[in-house]
Amino acid sequence: MAVLARAIEDDADRQPAAGGAFALRPLPGAVFGGEVVLRGGGDTRAFVAAAEAEPDALSRALDRARGLLLLRGMDAISAAPELLVRLSRLFGPEVEDYRRTLTKQTSVHQQVPEIFIVSNMPPASRPPPPLPDPPLTADGRLPVQFPQRRGWHTDQSYRRPPPDISLFYAVIPAPKGQGQTMFASGVDAYAALPDAMKARLEGLEGLHVMPRSGRSEEAVRRGETPMPLRAHERPQRQPVVRVHPVTGTRALYLCESGQMDWVEGPLVGMQPGPDGDGAALLYELMTHLTRPEFVYVHEWDAGDIVVWDNRSLAHTATWFDADVHPRLMWRTTVRGNPGKEYDGERRSWIPEPDGEGPAATR
Ligand SMILES: [Fe+2]
Repeated sequence: MAVLARAIEDDADRQPAAGGAFALRPLPGAVFGGEVVLRGGGDTRAFVAAAEAEPDALSRALDRARGLLLLRGMDAISAAPELLVRLSRLFGPEVEDYRRTLTKQTSVHQQVPEIFIVSNMPPASRPPPPLPDPPLTADGRLPVQFPQRRGWHTDQSYRRPPPDISLFYAVIPAPKGQGQTMFASGVDAYAALPDAMKARLEGLEGLHVMPRSGRSEEAVRRGETPMPLRAHERPQRQPVVRVHPVTGTRALYLCESGQMDWVEGPLVGMQPGPDGDGAALLYELMTHLTRPEFVYVHEWDAGDIVVWDNRSLAHTATWFDADVHPRLMWRTTVRGNPGKEYDGERRSWIPEPDGEGPAATR
């Protein structure tokens, strides 16, 4: 792992590393991921202009940094949110317009509908996740590993084809030590699996579902009646091992309780339900995927953008004191290159034209 970090560091001094205008540096404290800096410095607008002049540079850097990039000092975006959309367009064919998808409209930016708002403030009013129980590990550290740390997921995995990349920008972050974002490398985790487990996972699929559909592990254990779902809201199959369409790497692609279907799943063809064989295997894999050596914890500064590849990383959010601290984050999602196995598929979340009427928002 140290060798990889050194290789990225060496790149920072060589031309070109992440493209002629940019250098790629290792992320402190991480075995994957990189920080992209504009050679010679420059403000947000200079950064965006340089990236547009070299439209493959950031995307190449993301692949080279194995799915995680940090861009610091992009503060001008807070007053010019379209800059975030311009950056997002460099990562793939389509930046999602959240007015056209099953997205609660109070979480959509009023002027820039490609921006999804994550905030404890109105109108989004989204509470932070709870503290882990217990809040620290036995040796007094921030818990990262499932099941002590919960909420691990990849964005919108309940859709086929799922999105490729997310960009997350800190307008007002929580104070350091709170409201972090954690990333787990599905690539490193997959590579570390024993061969027998890799063979067992070949061709296996998970069943992913929209959160708050009454199909989470907790809802099923409570005996809740699952919400009736229309055709375009149904759980979607996704491979447990994703093959990256550009780099060819294989990665574990999984979520835990809230975004898997615990009625018919969580793993297709295995015993369903929270106490079935599928649940046991999923949670064995989640515990493995989130081992501390595969995880990077980002402490946010205002003006940071973190870009991640949902095809190869899982992520989760941590608690912050929402009674005291306002937090405002903006996210975009980029789609259009999910990999061969999704070739030619229609979008699962768009109702058929003469089907069941307009999509509900939630
Ligand atoms: Fe997310």
